[in-house]
Amino acid sequence: MYLLREIRRRFSAPLATLVNNDDIDPLLEMILSSQDAKFGDYQANCAMPLGKRLGESPREIAQRIISQLEIDDLCQTPEVAGPGFINVSLHDDWMVQQLQKLVHDPELGIRKISQPRTYVVDFSSPNVAKPMHVGHIRSTVIGDALCRTLRFLGHRVISDNHLGDWGTQFGMIIYGYKHFRDETAYAAKPIVELSRLYRLVRRLMDFHEGCADLSGIKQEIEKQQALLSQQETAAGEKPNKHTKKQLRSLRDKLDGLIERRDSILTLVSEVEADPQIGTLAEDHADIARNVLAETAKLHEGDNENRELWEQFLPHCRADIQRVYKRLDIQFDHELGESFYHDRLGAVVDNFEERGMARVSDGAVCVFLEGFDTPMIIRKQDGAFLYATTDLATIAFRSETWNPDAMLYVVDHRQGEHFDKLFETARQWGHDSLEFQHISFGTVLGSDGKPFKTRSGDTVGLEGLLDEAESKALDVVLQNNLGAELDDQQCQQVAKVVGMGALKYSDLSHNRTSDYVFSYDKMLSLRGNTATYCQYAYARTQSIFARGEVDVDALRQSSVTLRLHESAERRLGLELLRFPDAVASVADDYRPNLLTNYLFELANCFATFFEACPVLKAVNEEDRQSRLLLCDLTGRVLRQGLALLGIDVVDKM
Ligand code: ARG
Repeated sequence: MYLLREIRRRFSAPLATLVNNDDIDPLLEMILSSQDAKFGDYQANCAMPLGKRLGESPREIAQRIISQLEIDDLCQTPEVAGPGFINVSLHDDWMVQQLQKLVHDPELGIRKISQPRTYVVDFSSPNVAKPMHVGHIRSTVIGDALCRTLRFLGHRVISDNHLGDWGTQFGMIIYGYKHFRDETAYAAKPIVELSRLYRLVRRLMDFHEGCADLSGIKQEIEKQQALLSQQETAAGEKPNKHTKKQLRSLRDKLDGLIERRDSILTLVSEVEADPQIGTLAEDHADIARNVLAETAKLHEGDNENRELWEQFLPHCRADIQRVYKRLDIQFDHELGESFYHDRLGAVVDNFEERGMARVSDGAVCVFLEGFDTPMIIRKQDGAFLYATTDLATIAFRSETWNPDAMLYVVDHRQGEHFDKLFETARQWGHDSLEFQHISFGTVLGSDGKPFKTRSGDTVGLEGLLDEAESKALDVVLQNNLGAELDDQQCQQVAKVVGMGALKYSDLSHNRTSDYVFSYDKMLSLRGNTATYCQYAYARTQSIFARGEVDVDALRQSSVTLRLHESAERRLGLELLRFPDAVASVADDYRPNLLTNYLFELANCFATFFEACPVLKAVNEEDRQSRLLLCDLTGRVLRQGLALLGIDVVDKM
């Protein structure tokens, strides 16, 4: 039973007598769980805006709503409080009845959706041939949690890892392989050698690009500095708000330029200090152009490059699979960009035939209303683009799976690309499909800047997983003072705790905001962390172990739940809210609504555990009832975490 939804449903009838149908939903959204038990279990705040709108007293409106509300089976007669709040308190008997149903319900109150939709979820989608880095964690973890949640609700979900396996990075390793390879190293560990080649080529390209940009950047810095000091003088001692804002944005711009200049200078001095790489840089001055030429040859079907690509790709794929395995992430399909390459010409032809695209400056463009720049689908030199592949992908997915929705879990910087892509796809005929860019913010370091290693490199994903596991091991060892777990068990628990911490800390932030990465925070035993929820789960299990409770027999017995103590009732209420929490994730594609819920549930359990002795309850009825509450809590925690791709352990 979706409790909040049910309550809102009941309110919709009386509201329909007051406002137009279109105006009901926003009013229903003002019915929420109460922040404080003294205002009941749920509170409706819709009478206040209604009073204003209808020119009547909100308290009277509230009374009118209540008089028409049919809700006696769930709760006591709602009360009007303060200026016109409607407080709803569930009947204890009704709660007991509902909880009792959960005991035998493997879905924990979640009814499978009656009209399932088909979702294609495009997530993770790294560019292979370069190691996965911290930037990939968010898409991977959020996408996986959404797939699991939508499936659990009863939808058909097709996950597709749209690998970048056809882009410039292959031109880079092909170039690297042709010029710089170490044969022995490649034979021993191909992927290690390929990553080295990638990094080397990247460095040489950055060096030349940096050198080419440097003087321009220096000039720009001088210009901006002059402008800034001019404006500072003009602004005087006490600049107004607007001027302050202008000055700040100028300073930010200047800081960005200085940062870029400094990173170029560092790179230049590093290259100059290393004669070997210095010579390579000299000998490969045209590297950027040649890399593009290698990529173009690959795309045109050149035999040698094609063979190299076929040789490299399995190594690259195996490399990322290792990461997915550790994170317990599977895809239904991994149709990378290369899968679509021979469909791209037809896409462009189709746009041209239909008069939806036209040539401008030699490039084939789709002009869209509301956008400053067109969407280019073929470049002047004949090359296709990221956007062309995405259009071919949409066509293929539509034909193959006939989905209702396509979700793209990709960072916010690609927002404009997706806005244009979706608009183009709609005009192309995919207008009944729901397209969603599930955008997310950046992972930041403790300095508030994008998370980098001390030397300024991006942080590799595997290293991150290793570190999370090793820090988790510290936590486990500290907690294992009674040495209940042997070494091997500690290692096993550390894996579960480490991966859980990493995933949860990512999922628990509102996805659209940036967040600061911190191992200490994510592994804290207190606070909104996986570790805290996993610990609550382990506690439920340890009660059964200590009390030698036969859980199956307990569930089968005719124990009646009791919600006499306020902590028992509060926990019971929270357990009944699980379906709403899961459904809310799907409404807005926000896994943090589920982490919030699990944190609250773990808190309610902690309060209950403090206030209500379980194994030492004063009578057998309470003992049995409390054991059943522990069992339900454990099951909801385990299931809720599983929807986020997080495992639990019985002891930690
Ligand atoms: N490979 C791309 C990148 O790393 C992300 C792909 C996202 N999916 C898509 N269909 N465009 O930026």
